[in-house]
Amino acid sequence: MKKYAKYLFPIFLFSTNAYAKEDISFGKLANGQEAFLYTLKNNKNTEIKITNYGGIVTSIILPDKKGNISDIVLGFDNLQEYVKNSPYFGSIVGRYGNRIAKGVFHLNGKTYKLATNNGVNHLHGGKVGFDKVIWNAKKFESKEGKGLELNYTSKDGEEGYPGNLKINVKYVLTDNNELKIYYQANTDKTTIINPTNHSYFNLFGSGDILSNKLMINANYYTPIDSVSITTGKLEKVAGTPFDFRKPKYIGKNINDKNTQLSYGKGYDHNFVLNGKIGKLKLAATVTESKSGRKMEMYTTEPGLQFYSGNFLDGSFKGKNEQVYKNRYGFCLEAQHYPDSPNKPSFPTTVLKPNQTYKQLTIYKFGLM
Ligand code: BGC
Repeated sequence: MKKYAKYLFPIFLFSTNAYAKEDISFGKLANGQEAFLYTLKNNKNTEIKITNYGGIVTSIILPDKKGNISDIVLGFDNLQEYVKNSPYFGSIVGRYGNRIAKGVFHLNGKTYKLATNNGVNHLHGGKVGFDKVIWNAKKFESKEGKGLELNYTSKDGEEGYPGNLKINVKYVLTDNNELKIYYQANTDKTTIINPTNHSYFNLFGSGDILSNKLMINANYYTPIDSVSITTGKLEKVAGTPFDFRKPKYIGKNINDKNTQLSYGKGYDHNFVLNGKIGKLKLAATVTESKSGRKMEMYTTEPGLQFYSGNFLDGSFKGKNEQVYKNRYGFCLEAQHYPDSPNKPSFPTTVLKPNQTYKQLTIYKFGLM
């Protein structure tokens, strides 16, 4: 402790953040802004690290059935790699997670043109989304557990979105082994919002995710076109590779001959969750038998993007020298349906100045 005291002192003086000795600098951006890495621990030996750059969950360390620990999320060892080129590993994405066709939408008779960064489409908030900015961060303890509170103000016009939007995200690690993510946002002009967390999970901790067993609580999904824009239709999962109503290996049907799977190069689709919007409900469960690990996911959101890591191609060298090959991680992103601003029949993503956006998503870890 003594050794570090001289470094901690100035940080403490010039910041309102509550630092613990395990909360360390994560490096600096080109513009001089410093990112920090915060650690949350609970009484189940779970340890989660989060940086205020992009609100990225950089690691989730969990024991398996024998008590051996592994990191069950993909990511990098240092800030530079995240800045250089990350496929949204662990980050908070927004304002609008997922795609908006051609980056265009209409609101109150006005046409808004967003940054396009995925071919002709807008993806995950644009060129500099919530995943690429420094958030104000503060650790806290509540009766639920230990947490990190993040705040960011997205300026009117940022990436083309209307309104100054203030967003607050609280990560809480409970002694029940849940990672709770609370989102809250307000705007001063009518806008759209659809934030999510983009963690890539691998319950074994390495290798491909095809033998992770997945259940998704959805009778319908939203089919896409050849550039991954939703068609506006809901399709029954019954009788298709998208039927995860009973637990099934991710690999079971992933290579079936199917137009939807070919558009996504695997699973990259939004599922219409059974249950009510705004009510917390079971969205998915995942189990992995070699480690015995289990994850349950709950959300207040109406949709869930299941992305099977189809664009991972071995070009990312992640933590501990791991090369992330095709399908080495999967994402379960709580969200509204993709391209909702252009699909009047989908639940609305509009936020008005007199309203507060709220979301709660929970990833609960355990053993089978
Ligand atoms: C999208 C994928 C995209 C990936 C980026 C996912 O949420 O659905 O299409 O390639 O994010 O890493």
